[in-house]
Amino acid sequence: MAAPTTSPKYAPPFARRVQILPYDLEAGPLSHLQAERERLAGLTWEHFDAAPMGATIGAELSGLDLARDLPDDVIAEVRQALLDFKVIFFRNQHLTPAQHVAFARRFGDLEEHPFIPANEDHPELVRFEKSPDVGGYENGWHSDVSWRVEPSMGSVLRAVEVPPSGGDTLFCDMYAVYEGLDDATRAQIDPLVAVHDYAQVFGALIKPGQLEELREKYPLVEHPVVRTHPETGRKLMYLNRFFGRRIVGLSDEESTALIDRLCRRAEIVEYQCRFQWAPGSIAFWDNRAVQHYASSDYWPARRVMERATIVGDRPH
Ligand code: OGA
Ligand code: MN
Repeated sequence: MAAPTTSPKYAPPFARRVQILPYDLEAGPLSHLQAERERLAGLTWEHFDAAPMGATIGAELSGLDLARDLPDDVIAEVRQALLDFKVIFFRNQHLTPAQHVAFARRFGDLEEHPFIPANEDHPELVRFEKSPDVGGYENGWHSDVSWRVEPSMGSVLRAVEVPPSGGDTLFCDMYAVYEGLDDATRAQIDPLVAVHDYAQVFGALIKPGQLEELREKYPLVEHPVVRTHPETGRKLMYLNRFFGRRIVGLSDEESTALIDRLCRRAEIVEYQCRFQWAPGSIAFWDNRAVQHYASSDYWPARRVMERATIVGDRPH
């Protein structure tokens, strides 16, 4: 379908985006999503079906049993779906922790996390066990381990125990965020570099006196604010408020204001999809291309998740 054209002489009200003054607020269609949405709708798959979820992000894949040792061509197609949809979901996969690890390993080596507790038998599985006593802090937009020199390529998150209601996870397409910025902002941020720091989030878990030792092992890192995805070649905004500490070369005040303004763009719901978990659900996200947010609306109910984290490469 051709893109709808708007006469230069007369734009009907609300057929375009409008600024709501005096706030930094806009309403109206995000027309830049159209091309990617139509591209995704036209994709076909040999080994599974894919039902798209958000405009440009998320698809539920059906027809695969992840407990099996899948052939290489199936794994390659799953990887392609991950690149296209940015996050993919599977239902009714009742994997053992060992099968979970084995599936994730097909996509690369796995990391161990220095701060978050792990599964007792599998150090490569981070375990998020929420209860009346453990509330958690994943309810903010972030990409995982952006404080590493080589942040992870992706994560495979498995629901072990879900609360009676709530506990959804939301994902945001950071290509769409970048492409939705105005030209001047894109030109401004293209050359910028940000410092990322785990202490902003994990500070509470670091024992007094331990930070210096940790800084030797995990020093502050710098990553481009706009990265080029190593597999798709597309540019995206790679900045999050959980770990993004400051922009190199800006004053603290300017830096905080810019990071805040940019990261608020991930809160635009048209860039997102939202996943409701059930036992046996799995989410596999491209951690280079998306940010995520685990809704913390179920306390004091229990919610137990395990995550395998696939090693990535240095953003450029
Ligand atoms: C994560 C995370 C998501 C969730 O696994 O990295 O942020 O839904 N949690 O628990
Ligand atoms: Mn996370």
